[in-house]
Amino acid sequence: YLQLEDCGSGMYPPKIPTVKGNVTWYTVNLDLAPSERWTQVIKDKNTELITMELPLIVAAVSGIPLGEIMLFNIFYEVFTVCTSVVAEDFNGNIYHAQNLDFGLFMGWDRQNKTWTLTEKLKPLVVNVNFQRGNKTVFKSTNLAGYVGMLTGIRPGEFSLTMNERFNVDGGYVGILEWILGRRDGMWMGFLTRKVLENATSYEDAKDQLSQAKLLAPAYFILGGNRTGQGCVITRTRINTLDIWELDMKLGRWYVLETNYDHWEKPMIFDDRRTPAMKCMNQTTQANISLASVYDVLSTKPVLNKLTTYTSLMEVSTGTLESYIRDCPNPCTPW
Ligand SMILES: *[C@@H]1O[C@H](CO)[C@@H](O)[C@H](O)[C@H]1NC(C)=O
Ligand SMILES: *[C@@H]1O[C@H](CO)[C@@H](O)[C@H](O)[C@H]1NC(C)=O
Ligand SMILES: *[C@@H]1O[C@H](CO)[C@@H](O)[C@H](O)[C@H]1NC(C)=O
Ligand SMILES: *[C@@H]1O[C@H](CO)[C@@H](O)[C@H](O)[C@H]1NC(C)=O
Ligand SMILES: *[C@@H]1O[C@H](CO)[C@@H](O)[C@H](O)[C@H]1NC(C)=O
Ligand SMILES: *[C@@H]1O[C@H](CO)[C@@H](O)[C@H](O)[C@H]1NC(C)=O
Ligand SMILES: *[C@@H]1O[C@H](CO)[C@@H](O)[C@H](O)[C@H]1NC(C)=O
Repeated sequence: YLQLEDCGSGMYPPKIPTVKGNVTWYTVNLDLAPSERWTQVIKDKNTELITMELPLIVAAVSGIPLGEIMLFNIFYEVFTVCTSVVAEDFNGNIYHAQNLDFGLFMGWDRQNKTWTLTEKLKPLVVNVNFQRGNKTVFKSTNLAGYVGMLTGIRPGEFSLTMNERFNVDGGYVGILEWILGRRDGMWMGFLTRKVLENATSYEDAKDQLSQAKLLAPAYFILGGNRTGQGCVITRTRINTLDIWELDMKLGRWYVLETNYDHWEKPMIFDDRRTPAMKCMNQTTQANISLASVYDVLSTKPVLNKLTTYTSLMEVSTGTLESYIRDCPNPCTPW
């Protein structure tokens, strides 16, 4: 693999040039009807781009024609790669972080050395605080136009990220079946949304994520509030192949997932796992924190030209921080 630089250090708090901007917060009231929930966000939002895209969310939750829901889910769920990590420090605090890398193969701008779609998406990243009775139920970092969730936290209970699993066992068969009218499987991002809204504990979330029938394979990465509460769930459409959990007795103080089964080697042309693990190992459990996890996720090629945002979460404090990323040259396309 191509290790372009030493492991990042002292990069937190995030700053230019590896950060392009902060992510704006919005509140969505779950007591309102689905079709009314986003009007406040639309009203608040001054960026033209967002006002263009947000009605699509509204349309989707209130019953958009199938074609468009499909388009947006395929769009977001197929062209996304990620790095997710859950780690535990010596005091049993759990940290969960993710790089969302979006826009693969969707047009490379040779002059600026950027992915066209990745750059278009950056202004569409928003943080949302979902409330009931004026109290936070969960928080998430969202891509406008997409109803599903890739990154979210229920303070005090669990944190959840989803990574794409490109697997030859028929990932797209489910999507094809769905198009053809067999609708018993669930969009992966809808499941994470349902779990964030309705699961009430780490164990409950783990069960739901392991048992639901899906339209395509996926990795669900879950963090909790107590020692040992962190895992990577490897899913086929129907089954759970493996749940890889933190285990202090075995010295497994972190679990890290990119887009390959953890028991298999990553593809040689897309190895973000080895450099990320090398930097986790170098950090050691003694110095793990949101700041040092941010350092790991800021190391190239874990940080690359596809990286759209980095999220940092800590369940016990309810923290969710997200940053829009930039990867200054020299930087790998992925
Ligand atoms: C993000 O917000 C922080 C705190 O409000 C501020 O110090 C920082 O300059 C902002 N970063 C960018 C890139 O806008
Ligand atoms: C390249 O970046 C510059 C400055 O950000 C921008 O004005 C220009 O439109 C970009 N070029 C293309 C082809 O997108
Ligand atoms: C939530 O807060 C707003 C403004 O602070 C208040 O008007 C409203 O009655 C509150 N709603 C609930 C359900 O407590
Ligand atoms: C989560 O952990 C914090 C810190 O240990 C604790 O104060 C809090 O009560 C826990 N929350 C739940 C829901 O267990
Ligand atoms: C969560 O549960 C409530 C009450 O059962 C239900 O109305 C709602 O649709 C569920 N949310 C999701 C996203 O499935
Ligand atoms: C990191 O440490 C783990 C546990 O000791 C080891 O299995 C793994 O090979 C190491 N990975 C790298 C890239 O150093
Ligand atoms: C611990 O992590 C912080 C934050 O990343 C870093 O600045 C510091 O150098 C690290 N300390 C050691 C002893 O590695």
